[in-house]
Amino acid sequence: MTTHSPSEVKSLQESALEHLWVYLREPSDMAEKGDPAIFVSGEGVHVTDALGNTSIDGMSGLWLKNVGYGRKEIADAAYEQMLNLTYMPLGTTTEPTIRLAEKISQIAPGDMTRSFFTSGGSEAIETALKLSRAYFKRVGEPNRTKFISRKGSYHGATMGALALGGSHLYPKLDYEPLMPGVFHVPQPLPYRCEFGGETPEECAELCVNAVEEMIKFQDPETIAAVFAEPISSPMGCAVPGDNYWPRLREICDRYGVLLIADEVITGFGRTGKMFATEHWGVVPDMMTVAKGITSGYIPMGGCITRGEISDAFIGSQKASFKHVITFGGHPVAAAAALKNIEIMEEEGMVENAAKQGVYLLDGLNEMKEKYQMIGDVRGLGLFCGLELVADRGTKEYFPAEADLANRITQGFAENGLLLRGGDRMNVAPPLCITSSEVDDLVTIMDKVFDQVSKDLGV
Ligand SMILES: Cc1ncc(COP(=O)(O)O)c(C=O)c1O
Repeated sequence: MTTHSPSEVKSLQESALEHLWVYLREPSDMAEKGDPAIFVSGEGVHVTDALGNTSIDGMSGLWLKNVGYGRKEIADAAYEQMLNLTYMPLGTTTEPTIRLAEKISQIAPGDMTRSFFTSGGSEAIETALKLSRAYFKRVGEPNRTKFISRKGSYHGATMGALALGGSHLYPKLDYEPLMPGVFHVPQPLPYRCEFGGETPEECAELCVNAVEEMIKFQDPETIAAVFAEPISSPMGCAVPGDNYWPRLREICDRYGVLLIADEVITGFGRTGKMFATEHWGVVPDMMTVAKGITSGYIPMGGCITRGEISDAFIGSQKASFKHVITFGGHPVAAAAALKNIEIMEEEGMVENAAKQGVYLLDGLNEMKEKYQMIGDVRGLGLFCGLELVADRGTKEYFPAEADLANRITQGFAENGLLLRGGDRMNVAPPLCITSSEVDDLVTIMDKVFDQVSKDLGV
């Protein structure tokens, strides 16, 4: 660990304020708050900042530190591959990249046999968008060019992914015009069902019917694919009723539309299954992955396809998929991913996510009993969410003057927990978390909710 003196930290921060775009932060706000915090090391679920303060990372970085911080085996695997070979001649590949594709075909649901690797999640989504359209050109249905996605979802920062997204947290206005041909349907969020469904199943049925209506309205022969995260993060972890995904599969099959599961967050164990659609016994046509594939040790993502899709690109050079991502399938990232998956399997981390997820959800539900401001608690595995409301009856959010997000985020940070507060929150610690670390996390959250409840008089 390399800690720094307060003056060294200050000088680094000043440099950051002048030279760096810190994601989703604005420099004058950071300057006022003495930010950005600078981190230097991590171990398990803990991270340590440049001044030597240690905190629990309640968000696993950005939902990605699945095996936790500080796994030397992953660093060693990457180092060894770096010494051997760090790239390959055009049109060739390497052993770790092949072995990773093979491994994924073994652990992915159904016949998802071929992987196109990328450097991250947005590129995986762009790959799925292009693959869908190109697939339908190959199979003689060139009019299938449109996409359906859900309000409130996030699928990435690039232009196609942004067009698919529908979260108010990432407004599109600055970047318009976006890719045309994307149509949004309601999100199956039982707590605030747009159609007034009163149970998760009723909400799911109404929302999935809206997908079918949209397909019919647009003309089924023009729809290429439906994109959906199994559980949407910006919605504060919208866990759909159990009927949603099986019905979505059924509807896509009925109209010949591809079903694409965006497993960028949920893939690689986060929800207590290796891939989240396994909870509902559904095999999508494609899956986009990133984050947990290397537990964030090195950037990597991928689009994983069923054999039926990839077969359409075989047979001639003309039929092949013309799409290149320079760093996709980088051998060092592949070596790190293989070791990461090996650790997950050997140490039963997916099972631990399921077990600790139940324990965490219990802890969050106990807090809900105590604090009126917690309107809803939901989650699957170690992907949990809270919805905070000023009034439980009306489900009204707190007004901007309450400064809710800042109060909570700062309260957590002061007590050694890194987690973003807000109307809708995610709680997603590393999958290696122990019960006593869940206790620590919940104890801090409880203390902060107690204080904020008093401060806001709720
Ligand atoms: C569900 C989902 N899809 C795609 C992305 C985009 O991934 P990336 O930021 O690696 O481009 C994200 C990022 O958070 C995501 O949550």
